[in-house]
Formats: sequence, structure tokens, C-alpha cells
Amino acid sequence: MASSSRTIVDQKDYDLFKNLSSNWWNNPDMKLLRSTCNLFVPYICEKIQESYENKPLHSLRILEVGCAGGFLTEGLAQAGCNVVAIDVNKELIEIAKAHLDLDSSLPKIIYLTESIEEHCIENRQKYDVVLSNFVLEHVDEHDYFIKCCSDCLKPSGLLFISTIAKTFWSWICTIVLLEYILGIVPLGAHDYYKYINASDAECIIRSYGFAIKNTRGIFCNLLNKTSFFVPTNAFAYIIFAARNAE
Ligand SMILES: C[S@@+](CC[C@H](N)C(=O)[O-])C[C@H]1O[C@@H](n2cnc3c(N)ncnc32)[C@H](O)[C@@H]1O
Repeated sequence: MASSSRTIVDQKDYDLFKNLSSNWWNNPDMKLLRSTCNLFVPYICEKIQESYENKPLHSLRILEVGCAGGFLTEGLAQAGCNVVAIDVNKELIEIAKAHLDLDSSLPKIIYLTESIEEHCIENRQKYDVVLSNFVLEHVDEHDYFIKCCSDCLKPSGLLFISTIAKTFWSWICTIVLLEYILGIVPLGAHDYYKYINASDAECIIRSYGFAIKNTRGIFCNLLNKTSFFVPTNAFAYIIFAARNAE
């Protein structure tokens, strides 16, 4: 692991994810996150193929940052992507590796216990695509996190970042309902002050030389724990950006 002088990992979040790790794939409360990953896989693959003129997905180097137990990673691998997936949480990477071993039909995935701030030191301009799915709302410094993701991309690479908006409605849904009323997510799992609106995240992404190609709002039905795209970014969203694009 490369040494890094700067870390943006929150110790409280590290412990929270460590505690969730043993039951990651069997926890019914994770259905919401899995449903969002299932929604994103075809969207992400379609955007990658459009941008790289239908190059085979396996020929592109894809980095997933903050892969946790591997919901999105496995979905992408099943769709034919060649993925390196990193997470700072050692316990979750072990769970992701163990789950991958259960299914011999899955293509190889490289899982590494590493933060993005460590990974970017020795992997500058290495990847065609960098993805981060619901990680930004867990990091202390949005700008530095996005910079580290951007550093790992080739000059014409693609970036996908999803996170939770900083609005009254997202607070009601993700903290009041999910944590306090329904108990689907442990208390303290989300920190409203780390949420960021799509326009602010887009602004940071643009400052690293990207053009925003598409931003899609997401909403979740908390009763049946399914996610779908909506025409507002007021709850959560995924940003798709490309460097050197007009
Ligand atoms: C909500 S989970 C992500 C879910 C996952 N992307 C998925 O699609 O299933 C957030 C993850 O981000 C990881 N994380 C937080 N800060 C990180 C950093 N700076 N570098 C790498 N991983 C990080 C946490 O350890 C945690 O596993």
C-alpha cells in the first residue's frame, strides 16, 4: 500500500462500515443500495459504450472507489467490465473477495484495501473510467476526494459520482426516516453536513477539467426498497462527466 500524508477517511464511518461488513450481502436492509446498483449498472455501461464508441467493456480499465462489499462491482463485472475495486475498509474488502469466490462464473475482479488518496499516488492517469457510488457523503473533503479520483483517470477519462443531495427532503428521507423511524440504517450512518448538492459537486468536477455530460436524479421507494430515476436531483443523483469533452 502506498503511504499517504493525507487521509480523508472518517474514523466513525470506518467503524460503522466495519460493523456492517459481516452481514453485508445478507442484510435485507441493504436491498435499497443493491437496487440502486442494479439501476446504475445498465446506465453506466451504456454511457461508457457511447463514449468509447462501443469498445468492448473488458478492454477498458475501470476503477471503483469505495466498493464496500462489492454490490456495484459485481454488477459491473457481470456486465463485462474489467474492474479494479478499492475500499479503505479491510473487513469489507475481505467480504467482497469472499463473495466473489462463491461464484466461479464471475470474471476476475481485483479488490484492494486502499483509500483513493493512497491509490492515486501510484496510479496516476491509469484508468479509462473512475466510479464512486455513494461514497462522497462519507468523506470529509469533497474537493480532495474528487481530485484524487480525477488523478487516477487518463486525460480523456470518464467519471461517475453518485451521492446524496443536501436538501430538506434528503434529510427527511435518509436521516429521519431511514435512521430514526424505519431503522433501516444504523443511527449516525449519515451526516447531513457531508451531503452536497448536484450543482456544487458539478462545480468541483468542472474545476478538474471535466465537462458534465449528464446528471440523473434518483429516488427510492422506502416501502419496497427500490430505486428509480426521477427528474429532480433533490434527493440523490449520479453525475456523469468526461474530460476533454465539450
Ligand atoms: C456506502 S458505502 C459504498 C457502497 C458501494 N459503492 C456499493 O456500490 O455497494 C461507502 C464506502 O466508501 C468507503 N470509503 C470512504 N472513504 C473512502 C476513501 N477515501 N477511499 C476509499 N474508500 C472509502 C467506505 O469504507 C465504505 O465502504
